[in-house]
Amino acid sequence: ATPKIAVLVGSLRTGSHNLALAHALEKLAGNKASFDYVQIGNLPLYNQDFDKHYPAEGVRLKGQIRSADAVLFVTPEYNRSIPGVLKNAIDLASRPYGDSAFAGKPAAVVGASIGVIGTALAQQHLRNVLAYLDMPVLGQPEVFLHFKEGLIDADGEIGNDSTRGFLQGFTDKFLAWIATHHGG
Ligand code: FNR
Repeated sequence: ATPKIAVLVGSLRTGSHNLALAHALEKLAGNKASFDYVQIGNLPLYNQDFDKHYPAEGVRLKGQIRSADAVLFVTPEYNRSIPGVLKNAIDLASRPYGDSAFAGKPAAVVGASIGVIGTALAQQHLRNVLAYLDMPVLGQPEVFLHFKEGLIDADGEIGNDSTRGFLQGFTDKFLAWIATHHGG
């Protein structure tokens, strides 16, 4: 069956380059996967008191991630790490202890930045978190996209052939990774 991929975009901004990147990957996956965009901007800030009685938004978030076959993280770099909004969503979906929605789910990490290192440090931090959460994360290719005007439009249309080819290669490898780790 076609895998469903839960997509967490670490930017809430209208006109986000990372959202554009997610749309581009969705187009490149075509009918080989469905992308389920997870809204993370309206979640409560995680508080360990929740563990006694989980808030409805947290229950919904976990259900949405659990229902997916894989998770794609598309993140900007904020101050050399991931945005707080993304970390909060991860914390919320990973608790109470022993009841994480992420365990065993195949994952990939990509990101776009206006800076030349293209979210490399943020992604490295995120990989550390995902290792702890017991997610098999695709190692290669790494996607550190240096975003320049016109590279990808809001609909996910890619402006040049070499970027399209590179991102197609990533998409194909991720789909193969999901097939290999499915059922985890
Ligand atoms: C940034 N930006 C940034 N870029 C980068 O390459 N490394 C960094 O550490 C940071 N730090 C940072 C902190 C904060 C608070 C903001 C708002 C921005 C710039 C960032 O790459 C740029 O704003 C991107 O456009 C953000 O991604 P979206 O929103 O376009 O998806």
